[in-house]
Amino acid sequence: MPAFRTLDDADLAGKRVLVRVDLNVPMEDGKVTDATRIERVLPTVREISEKGGKVVLLAHFGRPKGRDDKNSLRQVVPAFAHALGQPVIFVADCIGEDVAKAVAAAKNGEVLLLENTRFHAGDEKNDPDFVKALAANGDIYVNDAFSAAHRAHASTEGLAHVLPAYAGRTMQAELEALSAGLDSPARPVMAIVGGAKVSTKLELLGNLVKKVDVLVIGGGMANTFLAARGVNVGKSLCEHDLVGTAREIEAKAKTAGCEILLPVDALVAREFKANPGHRVVSIGEVADDEMILDAGPLSVAEVVLKLDKVKTVVWNGPFGAFELPPFDTATVTVAKAVAERARTSRLVAVAGGGDTVAAMNHAGVADELTYVSTAGGAFLEWMEGKALPGVEALRQG
Ligand code: 3PG
Ligand code: MG
Repeated sequence: MPAFRTLDDADLAGKRVLVRVDLNVPMEDGKVTDATRIERVLPTVREISEKGGKVVLLAHFGRPKGRDDKNSLRQVVPAFAHALGQPVIFVADCIGEDVAKAVAAAKNGEVLLLENTRFHAGDEKNDPDFVKALAANGDIYVNDAFSAAHRAHASTEGLAHVLPAYAGRTMQAELEALSAGLDSPARPVMAIVGGAKVSTKLELLGNLVKKVDVLVIGGGMANTFLAARGVNVGKSLCEHDLVGTAREIEAKAKTAGCEILLPVDALVAREFKANPGHRVVSIGEVADDEMILDAGPLSVAEVVLKLDKVKTVVWNGPFGAFELPPFDTATVTVAKAVAERARTSRLVAVAGGGDTVAAMNHAGVADELTYVSTAGGAFLEWMEGKALPGVEALRQG
């Protein structure tokens, strides 16, 4: 598979560099509540700036239908400029005269942020005219938004076909880490998949059983698999209509020689809230009015034991309702065990997804894993084995 051009290959001095970043950050009351995505793109922005390029940032925010203040990138400027430690020039559109003037007026090394690309329908449609209008304000294109690379939009895909295109440093790191996770991993490989629903991760599970040696299923979706094995899951979140699908996945795993680990015990409660009355039960002893809200200590011990037998872990989705104590216990315990082994390079550990990043931060181990991806949908599609349009467009032909 052809490799990517990186910033090492780009001549940046004096160039107008259109840089696609992902600034789709969580906000509350006009303030950025988690700046991880901002921090991730700083190396690329700084490098282009230091090498004398004009940095022209393109990004989307939310899923607007046309122009609306709630989704304006203007509100991200203070947090971005603060993190960068350098002024950021905001332009209230992403195409047209005003952009051309602002870019022309900027000095080499200065940083501009253009308004939400999704304010124009042409972005999501990957409309060639819109691609052209974006391209008019750049000499080269750098994509540093892996987390938006599952979208074949003008700013994530189209531009790579009309301008010399390069992977930014974060995109590069992400692709290298992910490739070490699943494409050519050190074996055996364990995947941990959690989260609420099987229905959202069907393709993922189907792909993983063919690729990994051990598949640990946690979270609400484990209940569907347990129900498929005839276990009473009480009032737990469970997609009873998908037990047939769960059985098919188990059969596929067997054929492929992939071992599936399901919880053998659980923390159960009658109420979905923090610190309710709860107890530890063996799977099979859940009462009709109880909910499974986390994997139990024996299940965790089993996973941790397995960690000593594998060389790579790929993780998406928490084990339990980790936002409610004490149902964060399994996720935190396994996260710490993974981190301990990643720290000493015994284990390649790659985790990704919005909830997963939050869980790793909560466990205090985000910095200790080999790589933590902030991508949600893109990380899932990558784990599903799909080609990501934004990545494919960067490959050297
Ligand atoms: C994300 O937040 O996952 C990315 O920025 C992509 O956003 P989207 O799902 O609205 O395309
Ligand atoms: Mg998303």
